[in-house]
Amino acid sequence: PKVAVLLGGPSSEREVSLSTGRECVAALRGEGYQVEEIDAGPDLPARLAASQPDVVFNALHGRWGEDGCVQGLLEWLRLPYTHSGVLSSALAMDKERTKDAFRRAGLPVVPSRLARADEVRAGHVMDPPYVVKPYNEGSSVGVYLVHDAADGPPQLGPEMPDVVMVERFAPGRELTTAVVGDGPDDPGALCVTDILTDGWYDYDAKYKAGGSRHVLPADIPDEIASACLDYALRAHRALGCRGVTRTDFRWDEARGLDGLVLLELNTQPGMTPTSLVPEQAQHCGMSFGALCRWMVEDASW
Ligand code: DAL
Ligand code: MG
Repeated sequence: PKVAVLLGGPSSEREVSLSTGRECVAALRGEGYQVEEIDAGPDLPARLAASQPDVVFNALHGRWGEDGCVQGLLEWLRLPYTHSGVLSSALAMDKERTKDAFRRAGLPVVPSRLARADEVRAGHVMDPPYVVKPYNEGSSVGVYLVHDAADGPPQLGPEMPDVVMVERFAPGRELTTAVVGDGPDDPGALCVTDILTDGWYDYDAKYKAGGSRHVLPADIPDEIASACLDYALRAHRALGCRGVTRTDFRWDEARGLDGLVLLELNTQPGMTPTSLVPEQAQHCGMSFGALCRWMVEDASW
């Protein structure tokens, strides 16, 4: 079969997507697929029409590629594609609506609300410590942490959208769990990684070699590990996701199970050389190539 890999695109996570895409292109070629790379620009519909792939492998991250837009185009063209569909992608890209769905599913989240960026710049809209972030971006682009009231309100840069999410800061360890399908024959929730960084798990810590250390499986109590697997699968289902997702958690050790909260679910998790999902798959005996093959075989519209 012929696979078109969509990568790059216009979002703030373009470079991450190019890295994810290159890894997946190489792996798919290694698996024997005929692969075409498409940098997702304005000519994407024409390029897809000309290429006539059997399956589209979506390696895009961020807006337009992860938020339901490109998924809508692929539905329109009746092209089977990897990862989640239109509604799930759009829901997961909106961190506030994601939380509404998680709350309804009985999953623990941190209190937050949407605010106008100028309101946030003018004064504390929540008692510190709190975090301000775009409600619809990824890879920690534009995340501000306010430790205490003396710091003053965050001076959000001009890159921030008019509406932002203000979220109570959840202290603790950074845990994550990948889900590879949720059917009876699928691998399901894989395992738990504990992400260790010197400071914040920000863009550089995510993508620079040595920027963070991943402990896999996480050295945490069985009760917490089981809860992560259970919550990740329930989160995937709460948003109606398909294929591969990754759910990110914070765990405040001192509070036991009550200290575990979901931060968000990523419908297009990174597949770069420093990314977490391929590492978990490998740990479970699924090579990068086998993971990409699974994704192509799982594709639909
Ligand atoms: N947004 C990045 C790519 C991730 O979630 O892995
Ligand atoms: Mg994200």
